[in-house]
Amino acid sequence: MYGDDIASVLITQEEIAGKTKELAELIAKRYPADAPEGDLLLVGVLKGAIFFMTDLAKALPIPTQMEFMAVSSYGSSTSSSGVVRIMKDLDKDIAGRNVLIVEDIIDSGLTLSWLKRNLSTRNPASLEVVTLLRKPDALRTHVDVAHVGFDIPNEFVVGYGLDYAERYRDLPYIGTLDPKVYS
Ligand code: XMP
Ligand code: MG
Repeated sequence: MYGDDIASVLITQEEIAGKTKELAELIAKRYPADAPEGDLLLVGVLKGAIFFMTDLAKALPIPTQMEFMAVSSYGSSTSSSGVVRIMKDLDKDIAGRNVLIVEDIIDSGLTLSWLKRNLSTRNPASLEVVTLLRKPDALRTHVDVAHVGFDIPNEFVVGYGLDYAERYRDLPYIGTLDPKVYS
């Protein structure tokens, strides 16, 4: 539906669904359903992580609650500035809660490492990260990530929540964008 803007399908809808189920089983093992800290709190990073977050929540066999944050590090360019700004903060206090940050993609890692530092100052009982995608060759900082769906090549990808200038989020798969779109 986007003409020939998508150069190739990197991860299919079926592969995403299978991996989400796998991750959900691993995550559920780490948090008892009746933890004294209360329900696991999924913190999604808007907007990219929405599709993954809702599918993950449905696949998790334990009760979860959901909160969202919006941070901006990119504008509509395709490389990280390292400068992170909170556009929308959490509505709730996370002190004493088990928090799982749900990310769409870790590229340089700068956004996530900043976010982890920020949230850890709010004294959650635990703070871990699950990301659907990671680009190992693009990492510019070390950041501890408990669960990774797919390691992918260092190419700009779109779909399943990921955008370029707000487009392509609605694709049900992850694809690479033809460079002609952004050059
Ligand atoms: P960093 O570099 O800080 O970036 O790890 C994380 C955020 O940047 C966005 N991002 C992408 N968005 N295709 C996208 O649509 C990509 O290939 C891509 N790489 C990074 C994304 O919002 C992520 O949370
Ligand atoms: Mg984006």
